[in-house]
Amino acid sequence: MPINKTLFSSFRWQIVLTYLLIIVVGFTITNISVLDILGTYMINGKKETYRLYANWIAQVISYDYASGDPDILAGIGYDIQDFGEEIFNKERESTRILVLNKNGVVDYDSYNIIRGPDSLLKQNLAKDFPEVNLVLSGESVEPRELYIKPQNSNESMLVLYTYAPIQHERYGIIGMVIISTSLSGIEQTLNEVKAKLGTYSIVVAIAIIITSYLASGFITRPIKELTDVIRKTSQGHLDQRVKIRGSREFRQLGEAFNMMSEKLENLDRARNEFVSNASHELKTPLSAIKVLTESLLHMELDDPLVYNEFLNDINSEIDRLNTIINDLLTLVKIDTEEEQLVREPVELVKLVNDTLKGLQILAQQKHITMEAYHDDELIVLGDPVKLQQVISNIVDNAIKYTPDGGRVTVEVYEYSGNAVVKVSDTGIGIPAKDLPHIFDRFFRVDKARSRATGGTGLGLSIAHKIVLMHGGNIRVASEEGKGSIFYIELPLK
Ligand SMILES: Nc1ncnc2c1ncn2[C@@H]1O[C@H](COP(=O)(O)OP(=O)(O)OP(=O)(O)O)[C@@H](O)[C@H]1O
Ligand SMILES: [Mg+2]
Repeated sequence: MPINKTLFSSFRWQIVLTYLLIIVVGFTITNISVLDILGTYMINGKKETYRLYANWIAQVISYDYASGDPDILAGIGYDIQDFGEEIFNKERESTRILVLNKNGVVDYDSYNIIRGPDSLLKQNLAKDFPEVNLVLSGESVEPRELYIKPQNSNESMLVLYTYAPIQHERYGIIGMVIISTSLSGIEQTLNEVKAKLGTYSIVVAIAIIITSYLASGFITRPIKELTDVIRKTSQGHLDQRVKIRGSREFRQLGEAFNMMSEKLENLDRARNEFVSNASHELKTPLSAIKVLTESLLHMELDDPLVYNEFLNDINSEIDRLNTIINDLLTLVKIDTEEEQLVREPVELVKLVNDTLKGLQILAQQKHITMEAYHDDELIVLGDPVKLQQVISNIVDNAIKYTPDGGRVTVEVYEYSGNAVVKVSDTGIGIPAKDLPHIFDRFFRVDKARSRATGGTGLGLSIAHKIVLMHGGNIRVASEEGKGSIFYIELPLK
């Protein structure tokens, strides 16, 4: 049945069943040992008592039994019967006393008078009972308990046999006494104890099932909560958090989960922001194109120079669209290509010099002095095209955000196992509050001015991503109005 399967496969029931199993095994072992110890203790007590009885009877009848006088001998039969009654009165257990002669033949049987037909009188017991010979030959034989089945009953009963030799000063061992007594009292006590233990065990087991079921609720509650929250999260509710409680492991699990869902939420927010930023950036040039085109359509002039001017504007807006889309594609490509980064030895100094050559014209246009200093050749492992893009982006910024007549310095050197490209400028600098966001996508300090210079705010985030992919780091130090320094650190080969 699937219902039962799911019920008992739940963690909660597994805990309950485990407890129950432990309890059942524990109780079984305890109950068996308690019964065994108690039984042995009670039987040993009886053995001691009956040994004394047997010795006492043997001693009392010793002289009469040795006398050989028929009158005296006849009296022993009555004595035995009296002894039997006396013991019965004390012990409340039916007791049979036998007196055997030195050949093992029964001379007296206390049951002879009470129950004639069962009598063992004149039977030789030495043949059937090895103890008889042992006792008669002077060895001491321990009392012994046996389960026997009486002729008129199906249930076996526990019987104790006790032996004592009849000693005579002159004749030595002249016979023996055997007392057999039922241990039904002990059996009954043991059965009562067994029944009580059984009842207690069942009561305790039920109590354990109930308490462990309730207690397991506390254990499994955090799991249930977590499951509910995960389900909600997977349905798109990323703001879900679990309550941190329960055992240390559950608290750690909860903390890990909350951390993960916070990351997920941030990621989701970043993605939404990215999409909305990207759309916004694309909308600006598109709106400009729309306005320019509509003006052209509604103009009744036919001066080719004016047309030309409008078309030029449209053309540059299209260029801008192109740049943004290319940057976006680069970012997306970097995200997806992360695992399969090209790793070849790159001569960093050469790469930097080549890049600077390409940017020289930009610097000259703004009368910016560009200087380069470098150590000996430094080799890093990586993708030369991507690394060139990093240096180009940073140096391009330095030129872009430095007023005419300024200075841009590029240094390449080795520092504690890293190759460092340091790009310093004497430009406008970056306000301290903006420094933490400088590598965010679409981030620009001064939106209006950057847009005028054609920036999309993606250059640094692309550079940052590429450097991280190479196992490196990119840092910035800047002071508003004085200039900025960018450090690109790449691990040496
Ligand atoms: N050297 C610098 N001096 C001053 N401000 C800088 C410097 N480099 C970057 N910035 C600031 O950081 C912002 C982000 O730079 P980033 O290169 O990402 O974008 P961008 O230059 O505006 O556009 P593009 O995507 O074309 O590079 C810039 O808009 C600028 O405000
Ligand atoms: Mg830039």
